[in-house]
Amino acid sequence: MTPSDVKATLSFSDGSPSMELPIYKGTIGPEVIDIRKLYGQTGKFTYDPGFLSTASCNSSITYIDGDKGELLYRGYPIEQLAVNCDFLETCHLLLYGELPNVEQKSSFVNRVTHHTMVNEQMHFFLRGFRRDAHPMAVMTGLVGALSAFYHDSTDINNAEHREIAAIRLIAKMPTLVSMAYKYSVGQPFIYPKNDLSYAGNFMRMMFATPCEDFTVSPVIERALDRIFILHADHEQNASTSTVRLCGSSGTNPFAAIAAGVACLWGPAHGGANEAALNMLEDIQRQGGVEKIGEFIGKVKDKNSGIKLMGFGHRVYKNYDPRAKLMRETCHEVLNELGLHNDPLFKLAMALEKIALEDDYFVARKLYPNVDFYSGIVQRAIGIPVSLFTAIFALARTVGWIAQLNEMIADPEYKIGRPRQLFSGAAPRTVKPIGER
Ligand code: CMC
Repeated sequence: MTPSDVKATLSFSDGSPSMELPIYKGTIGPEVIDIRKLYGQTGKFTYDPGFLSTASCNSSITYIDGDKGELLYRGYPIEQLAVNCDFLETCHLLLYGELPNVEQKSSFVNRVTHHTMVNEQMHFFLRGFRRDAHPMAVMTGLVGALSAFYHDSTDINNAEHREIAAIRLIAKMPTLVSMAYKYSVGQPFIYPKNDLSYAGNFMRMMFATPCEDFTVSPVIERALDRIFILHADHEQNASTSTVRLCGSSGTNPFAAIAAGVACLWGPAHGGANEAALNMLEDIQRQGGVEKIGEFIGKVKDKNSGIKLMGFGHRVYKNYDPRAKLMRETCHEVLNELGLHNDPLFKLAMALEKIALEDDYFVARKLYPNVDFYSGIVQRAIGIPVSLFTAIFALARTVGWIAQLNEMIADPEYKIGRPRQLFSGAAPRTVKPIGER
């Protein structure tokens, strides 16, 4: 952290002594005021529910400029990574800080590829779920259960354990997601095949059966790989902060990542892709493009409780750069599959256009986010809607583990322990039950 020459002074209107607070500069982005000594010196906490103005950590992995609509992984713009790199190169970048050269890539791919199988006992664990369980319920259980199977990589304070847990998690997520899918449709699990790419192997585990193999189209394989790249990390969002907070107690990496999966499930976060597609299908059922005006009217009515899913973002107050890339991929996939006249895609385009011109959305700087288009791409590929968030979890695992490992390796790391403004009852006396 680079100290700034400028200091902040906190003063109080009741004449209590003022306090000088150091300011630190990042490489880019807003400076931060260091309030760590605030409680010790003033007996006061800061109040910031939802972390609207609070930097919870010092990180060098991902940077977002929400006003510009810019996303950088380790300094590289997402647009360049999406076009020039594949997902496993992006994983290497996020985990180790640099894009791999040819030898490093080959060694990394080889390591990940040779950890794709899961312990056979996991099959029995999975069989304990109802077949109609939501895939995210299953994934929360399966990822947490990895800690019961891989005892040699559960010590978060051991750098070698952290490294092997990272590789295992990245390698096994596609296997677990496809197992959750196969289980839900009553088909046999398909084992990973090591001569396929990361995305290609996932598609085959999803769609092959023991009776018929599955050949992946290069356009679809690339589209899925791009979905993975675009979702790989997004700095201190809710699920990543959950992983950090959970891991800060020293729990094992699999348990911390399972906490991230659970957080991602919510419709305000990763669950938005599923919710966005369900919303489009609902509008379509009610009459399609002609019903957009009526739907937008409901979204603008605060009493309706209806939001335009796939729109808005806490940080982006401009077009989400991932949405732009996903929109492009959407066109490519629909063309490849001969679905360019897909009514849901047309509806999404019309909805986007109307929302972008509407004062309500313009005034609040609400733009489409990545989830607005990723659902359409996944649905076109044949992925069931209920599995969308599990695919997001698959892709985000590398970000979670990179952020967790960064936190543990930081000499300033402490268990996360927020404070509170207490507004409950003042101390009182318990009365015997007959007098209450
Ligand atoms: N539809 C209608 N109004 C909205 C929407 C929306 N999608 N998003 C925000 N607003 C309104 C909100 O009601 C508020 O209006 P007002 O100022 O009149 O009270 C204003 O815009 C500011 O919104 P906010 O709720 O203060 O913003 P936030 O930063 O707390 O919420 C969000 C961000 C993503 C939770 C929210 O925009 C939302 O719920 N969007 C829909 C769900 C969604 O698409 N989530 C995916 C996020 S991207 C993927 C990921 O990273 O997980």
